[in-house]
Amino acid sequence: MIQINLFLKQLFIFISLLGINYSSITAQNAVNIPLLQAKFITGNNEAYKKPAYNDSGWEIQQLGQTWQAQGHPDYHGYAWYRIHLLIPSSLKETAFWKDSLRIYLAHVNDVDETYLNGKLIGHTGSFPGEDGGYASKWPAVREYHIPLKEEAIHWDSDNIIAIKVFDGGGTGGIFMGQPYIDLLEKINGLLISIDHEQIRYNRDGNASANIMLHNQYKVQLNGTLQTSIVDELTGKTIKNMRQQLLLDPLGKKNIVLAMPNRAGIAIHLLFKEKNSGLELAKMVTLPYILTPQPGDKPVIHGAAVTGLKPGHPFIYKVAATGKKPLSYLADKMPEGLTLNQHTGLITGTIKTAGGYEINITVKNTNGYDTKRLKIKAGNILALTPPMGWNSWNCWGTSVSDDKVRNSAKALVDLGLTGYGWNYINVDDGWQAMQRSADGEMVPDEKFPDMKMLGDYLHGNGLRFGMYSSPGTHTCGGFPGSYQHELQDASMYAGWGVDYLKYDLCSSIDSMKNNVSPADHQHPYKIMQADLAQQSRDIVYSICQYGIKDVWKWGREMEGNLWRTTEDIEDTWESLYHIGFKQDTLFPYAGPGGWNDPDMLTVGMVGWGENLHPTRLTPDEQYTQLSLWSMLSAPLLIGCDLSRLDKFTLNLLTNGEVISIDQDELGKQARRLINKDSIQVYIKDLADGNKAIALFNISQKYRHYYASFKALGLNDNYHVRDLWRQADISDHLQGVEKRIPPHGVFLFKLTSSGKHKK
Ligand code: GLA
Repeated sequence: MIQINLFLKQLFIFISLLGINYSSITAQNAVNIPLLQAKFITGNNEAYKKPAYNDSGWEIQQLGQTWQAQGHPDYHGYAWYRIHLLIPSSLKETAFWKDSLRIYLAHVNDVDETYLNGKLIGHTGSFPGEDGGYASKWPAVREYHIPLKEEAIHWDSDNIIAIKVFDGGGTGGIFMGQPYIDLLEKINGLLISIDHEQIRYNRDGNASANIMLHNQYKVQLNGTLQTSIVDELTGKTIKNMRQQLLLDPLGKKNIVLAMPNRAGIAIHLLFKEKNSGLELAKMVTLPYILTPQPGDKPVIHGAAVTGLKPGHPFIYKVAATGKKPLSYLADKMPEGLTLNQHTGLITGTIKTAGGYEINITVKNTNGYDTKRLKIKAGNILALTPPMGWNSWNCWGTSVSDDKVRNSAKALVDLGLTGYGWNYINVDDGWQAMQRSADGEMVPDEKFPDMKMLGDYLHGNGLRFGMYSSPGTHTCGGFPGSYQHELQDASMYAGWGVDYLKYDLCSSIDSMKNNVSPADHQHPYKIMQADLAQQSRDIVYSICQYGIKDVWKWGREMEGNLWRTTEDIEDTWESLYHIGFKQDTLFPYAGPGGWNDPDMLTVGMVGWGENLHPTRLTPDEQYTQLSLWSMLSAPLLIGCDLSRLDKFTLNLLTNGEVISIDQDELGKQARRLINKDSIQVYIKDLADGNKAIALFNISQKYRHYYASFKALGLNDNYHVRDLWRQADISDHLQGVEKRIPPHGVFLFKLTSSGKHKK
């Protein structure tokens, strides 16, 4: 049934209440026709695009949800949708611009070709067999524009939108949004965003930011822009201005605004188009800085413990900050290992299993810092959650040697390695489409020499991560390791690989309904045995989205981390549904094996498509880092590090927050309170102290008093604010805080008796 949403309004207001830094042009106009369902068939037949094709025998699928969720859990490959709809000419009467019809299909997993009444109107991604081969483009939003004079539009009568789709693995179909049609307005071409890379944070506690206005259409845009800077905490308007705004076709303008650098500073923008009176509203929250700048004096960060297997090469970078040059010393090194005093790299091989404790000192002209490091030579790797970078959320399948090196270089140059970030993980898309004649996996030409890439990373104190699937092909459609497991494992070892993400993808095809956990374990066991034959330490990342309670058996597969959920995205909904659903899994995390709620969605992301700043608000990003640290989750940055803005760098370089994640005890936090939109998590730390996080999951500021007694803590405590790295007070029995919307207050408690002044 077609629903026509005909509110006759002089104005439409699209308010981006998410407070995000990414202006979407896909919000529909008030007069629109939602596309709710379609006829659907799996397989491929070019006749399906013909308007007259008889699809009466086809099933019905809801649009906006994958076909896996609608009766086809195991299907991957081609499918067709046919949407039957009436396009009323009244749309033209209510529109102002009367230029183009917009067909919005949200995201398509993974490739589409879209026809209106038999005429091709859009094609995104590339089907297998096309020039260049299969290319998945699920992150791209499908929004096709058709001039109103186009004959393919049948006004006031039946129309068929036929969509050919190909899914190469994972989920398939039209998803992540409700499709609709409407008529474009000029104002839909206006993109308002804050320039993240240009924000300046001044020493006087103020910041200045560029607001970018971009007219994406080839038509002039004329109107007024109202800008207000509001302190959301007090509700007071700090600044208000109104100006005429004339944007040339495809024109851009910047407005520079000064404001205080603190929580709750919001910029409200309202553009009113002159002729139509249509309005576009946008709210952006200033990415405010919390982590104090590191000092010149050396500070050693990173975990207090590390694991390795006897007889295998070891590479470990001492994580330390401080003014360069730094020099590194150790009181005693286990036999077989050496510490390079200039680079802080510990390399070599320990022959015998056992525990070794060394005191590391890092010095410069401003002073020194000393910290104990336990080196455990045994059978367990990842004694604390892995930390590093992964290519997927920024580069998708367009990942290349250059892009990986750029992020690796940035990790080092920006000083992130000084805080313990050290894995550089290449995700899907590194492979050529075919194995060689002797069955060897061949890297795509974007990766000229994997061994050299590994050497480059190791030379910089980094560890090298690789990706494959137990299936015949990966989620991106590249060859998987099925029946080549040992061959692949030994090739990775030859390249110097230190980490393998093994992603279920097409392997699920062989596991029809009602399979036992053993069937799901089987492919992971095979690779585990083959990795065990290599004389390298390879951290094993099990990625199968939490199926069959992987947290209960991941450790048995010698998995060091196991994904507990589907893929994360850079939205609050995704962060909330993934991050705040991990609390029951706390018994399963611990040294050597971690629950993995997927990557950090901060910085510039985009899955290979038009990278954009994360759509998470600054507070949501503080929440993600805090929650992941409380959960002892792996910390894998998913953004383009070569374009890291100051806020994101600041977010990722808080040694005190990271130390909660990397705590040697390795206990996941427990959620003790979940009431009235406040969630309280508590984590036991190795030194006997506690980390506590108060999360506000509502959209409003919340005042909250956390009584320590209510959390089972009956002493007086010293409280330290971890993000601000500031002592709050001593002898406390509770804390009272105003927590921002979707924000957090993260602190550490030490019994007053134990606190050293
Ligand atoms: C799956 C995984 C992602 C990524 C892609 C690659 O979706 O969950 O993390 O590895 O596959 O295709």
